[in-house]
Amino acid sequence: MRKLIAGNWKMNGSHAQAVALLTSLSQKIADENLGEKTDICVCPPFPYLSLTAEKLETLKAAQSIALGAQDCSAWGQQGAFTGDVSAAMLSDIGCRYVILGHSERRGYYNESSLGVAEKIRLAHEAGLIAILCVGETQAERDACVQDSTVVAQLRESIPPCASSENLVIAYEPVWAIGTGKTAKPADVEAMHALIRRFLQEKLDKCAGSRILYGGSVKAENARELFAIANVDGALVGGASLKEDQFLDIIRAAL
Ligand code: 13P
Repeated sequence: MRKLIAGNWKMNGSHAQAVALLTSLSQKIADENLGEKTDICVCPPFPYLSLTAEKLETLKAAQSIALGAQDCSAWGQQGAFTGDVSAAMLSDIGCRYVILGHSERRGYYNESSLGVAEKIRLAHEAGLIAILCVGETQAERDACVQDSTVVAQLRESIPPCASSENLVIAYEPVWAIGTGKTAKPADVEAMHALIRRFLQEKLDKCAGSRILYGGSVKAENARELFAIANVDGALVGGASLKEDQFLDIIRAAL
């Protein structure tokens, strides 16, 4: 399966840094033809999305780098929802992907899986590909309930409109995010196999969805992760802000 490498910039950077990183990334991606065999996506913070969309149009590797957002409204496509940004708006400015249900949003904003399902429905209505994040906390792993936790998140977060074309799953164990701790290859393999089995048995339309791994992915561990069955790419946080790291992760996926 063609791998997807998505960079989640989270709430980092500035206008100048966004332009500099994208310009340089794009040049190298074009020079090495990295977009030919891999799908690449960057997800900047909301204020820099239009800017990066416009910048991408002027860059060499524009075709190879897709734009994604880090969230969208659960309330609709237009209306009196102060502070919200709708999926239709994201689509309008050129986004192709949107990350939904990230553990930071589930944790800091009490987002429920049912709320995430509504966001995914709206994202699909707007023609976006949703990257649905699932994953257990350290306490859940210690209690050996990681499988039932992830299966419950999948069961409740995926709406009927989802298919292999418009849904990507990202398995991100919460304890591996931003900590430098990566899940053991055997644990990644087991969880990705579980997710694939769930999709095949319960959501046939999504049986071919890509399953990304996320959580302290870096240049040093990317190759090992990508060699694991059912790891169809990565959702990269911190390392996606470092040009050399992000490029090496993309190269490891070729
Ligand atoms: P880190 O790669 O910084 O651990 O973040 C992972 C993540 O949360 C991506 O969405």
